[in-house]
Amino acid sequence: MLKNDQLDQWDRENFFHPSTHLAQFARGEAPNRVIRTASGSHIEDRDGNKLLDAFAGLYCVNVGYGRQEIAEAIAAQARELAYYHAYVGHGTEASITLSKMILDRAPKGMSKVYFGLGGSDANETNIKLIWYYNNILGRPEKKKIISRWRGYHGSGLMTGSLTGLELFHKKFDLPMEQVIHTDAPYYFRRPDLNMSEEQFTAHCVAELEALIEREGADTIAAFVGEPVLGTGGIVPPPAGYWPAIQEVLNKHDILLVADEVVTGFGRLGSMFGSDHYGMTPDLITIAKGLTSAYAPLSGSIVGDKMWKVLEQGTDETGPIGHGWTYSAHPIGAAAGIANLKLIDDLNLIGNAGSVGAYLNTAMKDALGDHPNVGEIRGEGMLCAVEFVKDRETRTFFDAGDKVGARIAGALVAHGVIGRAMPQGDILGFAPPFCLTQAEADEVIAKTATAVAEILG
Ligand SMILES: Cc1ncc(COP(=O)(O)O)c(C=O)c1O
Repeated sequence: MLKNDQLDQWDRENFFHPSTHLAQFARGEAPNRVIRTASGSHIEDRDGNKLLDAFAGLYCVNVGYGRQEIAEAIAAQARELAYYHAYVGHGTEASITLSKMILDRAPKGMSKVYFGLGGSDANETNIKLIWYYNNILGRPEKKKIISRWRGYHGSGLMTGSLTGLELFHKKFDLPMEQVIHTDAPYYFRRPDLNMSEEQFTAHCVAELEALIEREGADTIAAFVGEPVLGTGGIVPPPAGYWPAIQEVLNKHDILLVADEVVTGFGRLGSMFGSDHYGMTPDLITIAKGLTSAYAPLSGSIVGDKMWKVLEQGTDETGPIGHGWTYSAHPIGAAAGIANLKLIDDLNLIGNAGSVGAYLNTAMKDALGDHPNVGEIRGEGMLCAVEFVKDRETRTFFDAGDKVGARIAGALVAHGVIGRAMPQGDILGFAPPFCLTQAEADEVIAKTATAVAEILG
């Protein structure tokens, strides 16, 4: 077993951890955890603590840990051909095969896949393609991108701007001016408690229409959204939301980007969230579940309508000026092929649907009546518990009380990882698709214990 007594010191002296309180970490006030090994739904740290990972890493290890089929595929690819680039028509057997497998699974109307490394860079690619598209069509003014408050689309410059969470903007001079935000489709946080779900959908649509009216449709290129809000709180859309939004976008010739980094390849119990909710996107962002995070790989799936214009553009201006050294990296592609095969062979999407439904129902049975539980919601293998100070008046706790973070802390002390979502007191679950019903029961029982410890 790895046991290096200097590891803690090296960690605090040398390693810049993402999304971490840097000063507290450097001073040794915030805990670190060194993960050593993992199998199925469990990870184990170097101190021998075994934890049930009910967030699948960062909702990405969808097939579960320790899959030898994927490890073997990666090793075989590395031995045969660790790298070759994909520029000017080059490719590998793995990257070409995976692009075919993705298009075979994608919603109707999709044409090609561009490979990147992570969700953020795939969304940066999408924005460049959208701008290129409108320039080729002779509409240089049609460039703004609408995103939603609480959306999460990455933490680059443009993608951090699309992300509608304060923490990702504050002190970074974001959002950039080409990005504008509209309301989050978050029924539990509706402005008027008397609104029905349908009325709230109509409200979101009216807000979008008003924004388009104010800005001018001829200045707006695209709308970006996750089928289910993820990092913003794990929030499925209110009834009828996506068809109604789609209608507005079609009317104003605004492209739709479905960011399926979390929902793509099965998390909702369907292959894609776009099909699940009746969206007809022009671009689809994929990452996490494409390789179950066994290797970094992302993609932008480009729809037919945009693809024709991209081809026209290169006829007019020459090869497309976009690419990364590691686009379509063969090791990532080999991992993706093995991962998608495993998902099919083990019917993991079916399991995500059925065990996910059980997790949501049983969580409601166990915690739904707690006086500080405002809402339990989810879809497929996604579940969230939102805490409130008073459920009758829907009064939230003060952010400074850190209720969500304290419950997540109590839960991990009992051996289960949930995620305190960054904005609000929301405990999120996004387990691997191979979660068993017994493991779901353990997640629920320990969540109930943790909630009782913090809130009574
Ligand atoms: C919906 C969505 N889009 C994009 C991203 C960014 O992906 P990455 O962290 O791989 O850059 C994430 C990450 O959580 C995400 O949830």
